[in-house]
Amino acid sequence: MTSSRAPPRWWLPIRVDTYTGAAIAPLLPDLARLRVEVFREFPYLYDGDTAYEEKYLRIYAETQGAAVIIARDEKRIIGASTCLPLAAEMNSVQKPFREAGIDIATVFYFGESVLEAPYRGRGIGVSFFEAREAQAEGYEMTAFCAVQRPDDHPLRPKNYMNLHDFWRHRGYHPSPELVCSMTWRDVGEAAETTKQLKFWTKDL
Ligand SMILES: CC(C)(COP(=O)(O)OP(=O)(O)OC[C@H]1O[C@@H](n2cnc3c(N)ncnc32)[C@H](O)[C@@H]1OP(=O)(O)O)[C@@H](O)C(=O)NCCC(=O)NCCS
Repeated sequence: MTSSRAPPRWWLPIRVDTYTGAAIAPLLPDLARLRVEVFREFPYLYDGDTAYEEKYLRIYAETQGAAVIIARDEKRIIGASTCLPLAAEMNSVQKPFREAGIDIATVFYFGESVLEAPYRGRGIGVSFFEAREAQAEGYEMTAFCAVQRPDDHPLRPKNYMNLHDFWRHRGYHPSPELVCSMTWRDVGEAAETTKQLKFWTKDL
């Protein structure tokens, strides 16, 4: 893939800011672009469309307690991360918590973290966790979910490393009883398929 974007300048710091409420709406086109671009990669393999994404992402602008974290290289948005109370999420995301007897009002849910590839590995992902946890005051638990793919998946890059150690180092652990399903069309597939996503949680 070719790109006309200027390469990142490693000597300049990347700014990471947190947005809430009405300030979120103008960020949604960039968030949609980043999700479609980054989630095409393994393990998500999401064949997304930015118009649909922008509609779906309005939940962050409309939910009290939601936040969007934005990373910028000068003025250009190069990464983003989201969070909101689990009580505002889709029923399919809440369901495993209800079934496990967890009060969903006590859980703060982390959506995606998406960062353009040239900016990875310089601490921005850690900042995304710190900024989202700062929004979780008053909750008992933070949680996020990750798609399950077989190790021998044909689209798994040879050098692919999962993020399990990264998440463990942030204090998260897998909660095997918490699993949800989501449906999307994978890159190169004709129809949507349902995937299982497993939750990782941290008690606050
Ligand atoms: C997840 C993501 C946001 C992390 O951002 P990042 O800025 O590269 O992460 P950091 O530089 O803060 O590094 C965090 C940790 O990940 C490790 N790491 C960095 N790149 C990695 C990679 N490609 N694979 C596995 N681990 C990696 C670092 O060693 C560091 O580990 P440590 O904290 O245990 O020392 C980024 O890799 C990304 O956008 N990935 C694709 C989308 C994705 O999988 N999102 C997560 C689920 S929504």
